[in-house]
Amino acid sequence: MIGKDIKKAAEIIKSEGIVAVPTETVYGLAANALSKKAVSKVFAAKGRPSHNPLIIHLADTDDLPIYCREIPPKSRLLLEAFSPGPLTLVLPKTDFVPEMVTGGMTNVAVRIPAHPMMLELIRECGFPLAAPSANPSGFISPTSPMHVLKGMSGKIDYILDGGNCEAGLESTIIGFYDGIPVVLREGVISRGEIEKLIGKVRTLSNDKILSPGMMSSHYCPRTPLLLSENIVDAIGKIPKMKIGLITYGGIYKGLPEDCQISLCQNEEFSIAARNLYAAMHELDERGYDLIIARRFPDHGIGVAINDRLFRASIKL
Ligand code: TXA
Ligand code: MG
Repeated sequence: MIGKDIKKAAEIIKSEGIVAVPTETVYGLAANALSKKAVSKVFAAKGRPSHNPLIIHLADTDDLPIYCREIPPKSRLLLEAFSPGPLTLVLPKTDFVPEMVTGGMTNVAVRIPAHPMMLELIRECGFPLAAPSANPSGFISPTSPMHVLKGMSGKIDYILDGGNCEAGLESTIIGFYDGIPVVLREGVISRGEIEKLIGKVRTLSNDKILSPGMMSSHYCPRTPLLLSENIVDAIGKIPKMKIGLITYGGIYKGLPEDCQISLCQNEEFSIAARNLYAAMHELDERGYDLIIARRFPDHGIGVAINDRLFRASIKL
């Protein structure tokens, strides 16, 4: 079920099976992007609505024109700077991409991941891999083979073990609409890094038509999660509950140490991103009444961390 055998993973995918695969962001659930039968298994295993499209993963930028009809100059700049890596581009699709992959949309999301095992797997297969995150729809994304097993056991054919994901948070998604760049999902690459290269990018304002997956509730643990700017205040208001705390920059003195996880020391927020989903999985298993998460400063990768925590949180 779990192993490091890339050839075996490729054989399963070639025979239209589905395999959980490591990437530098989160684990994906991969299928042959050109096989409707295989892609339908991914939707079924995740319980994902068929209108919510999948990202296709390629090994080489050179293959992009096979699947994307237009590659605007600004998207090329992003590719040169950030691929392979945690960048997903949404571009007009060619007829090679089945509509099932794009949820009926005329654009396709493409990404060249940086994990060496994933790149080798794509090359071994010889076709692109459609892969959403390898979690049941709406639940916390997996950053280790154990997280995948917890959510998808019995529903998938194999887990290719590539260790813990280095970035720990999903890719940044930039869509191009009539050549104009729009941030569809905040991610590992910050808006600042993107804008330094291609100038101002627009923001998706809850436009479900552009990106159906960006619904507000997502990445949820089973335990209710409260996102708070001020944890002292939040804890003070909630008496008599078993609380687990996700914080950063060291342990919070007002609660026992063993019921909290500090995601990073000081302000190393890329380390916090790497640890975020593992902390959510871990606290979710411990049976608290409530998880409180401390809001991060809204700069750099803190923006993407807050985005995930907000989507995971109960809205009061
Ligand atoms: O880091 C990542 O991007 C991971 C790894 C496995 O590559 N993948 C991932 O896939 O996060 P998923 O399916 O969990 O999230 C992809 C998001 C969804 O919100 C989906 O709606 C959006 O991308 N998306 C996919 N294709 C799209 C398209 N053609 N147009 C607009 N949004 C699209
Ligand atoms: Mg996902």
